[in-house]
Amino acid sequence: MAAVVIYFSHAGENFVSGAIKALTIGNTAVLAEKIGQRLDAPLQEIQPLEPYATDYEKTLARSQQELLSAQCVVWRPMTVGSVSARSIFLGFPVWWGTLPQIVSTYLQSQDWQDRWLFPFCTHEGSGCGDSDQRLAQLCPGAKLLPTLAIRGGRVQRADLALANWLAVCQQTIKKMEVSPMSEIKNEAVENGVIFPRGAKNDAYAQYFIGQSYLANLVADPAVNVGVGNVTFSPGCRNNWHIHHQGYQILLVTGGEGWYQEAGQPARRLHPGDVVVTHDGVKHWHGATKDSWFSHIAITTGTPEWLEPVSVEQYASLDD
Ligand SMILES: Cc1cc2nc3c(=O)[nH]c(=O)nc-3n(C[C@H](O)[C@H](O)[C@H](O)COP(=O)(O)O)c2cc1C
Repeated sequence: MAAVVIYFSHAGENFVSGAIKALTIGNTAVLAEKIGQRLDAPLQEIQPLEPYATDYEKTLARSQQELLSAQCVVWRPMTVGSVSARSIFLGFPVWWGTLPQIVSTYLQSQDWQDRWLFPFCTHEGSGCGDSDQRLAQLCPGAKLLPTLAIRGGRVQRADLALANWLAVCQQTIKKMEVSPMSEIKNEAVENGVIFPRGAKNDAYAQYFIGQSYLANLVADPAVNVGVGNVTFSPGCRNNWHIHHQGYQILLVTGGEGWYQEAGQPARRLHPGDVVVTHDGVKHWHGATKDSWFSHIAITTGTPEWLEPVSVEQYASLDD
């Protein structure tokens, strides 16, 4: 696994098991070290240019101020780049029920499209708070797993939890990744089926995982439906979404894909299939992990875009 462990941790005074204790190595750093050893992956610490005080109260005050003002916290140059790594194990302490602002700033500076992100955190009772929602917002396009949360005072006894978690991470990667390019199916769909494939679907990229393409076939203000040809690269899918005061009809033109309504099993799609999504129904659609896929989408109403289809959910579709 081409992985790197990137983490932020605050050594010094910290709140541990109900009391303030001085830590020479931060809890998250201990966990990061263990993960790095197990994966034989390089470690990179995110270090603030202006270090946090050793004093607990001062760090509380500064971190709260940074969070409330959504401040960009500058970090020192990094020696291990995350640029080429496909799998990032990201560690952080929970501060104020969420990610420390320095971690948010770092995440915003990176391109997450199609990269694996395995977050882990240490905390002192609140669990990971709203970190998963924040990570989804800050890392659009990432193949993101739920955060592993370990209580700071227990990091030295976390080996079993860590081993189980790493096994899940590795299984998920294995299920999702298609190794040789020759296994990709229906590559001809990339060039368009009947209708042109269109350009990269940049306008909606924030609501998709992976690369999609869009050719608008009907965009006529005098007609109250839009018709578009949507092409999905293997593994690409859109977020859960709802068409309000409207509907959507999908006419499958190429490759293999999935369609799923909330609470229902996913339906595998092939050319010639027709899908009707009624007003208010939460659903998603996209390619299978190893095939190109295209459909015509006939849509009315107003879309409401929701959370991404989680990587575990998508990976389990073939089971
Ligand atoms: C500024 C600050 C804010 C914190 N906020 C929380 C919190 O909201 N919830 C929680 O469970 N623990 C909180 N803690 C405790 C830390 O998350 C916990 O001690 C963690 O293990 C520290 O990791 P580190 O040593 O790697 O920095 C906070 C600690 C600090 C210093």
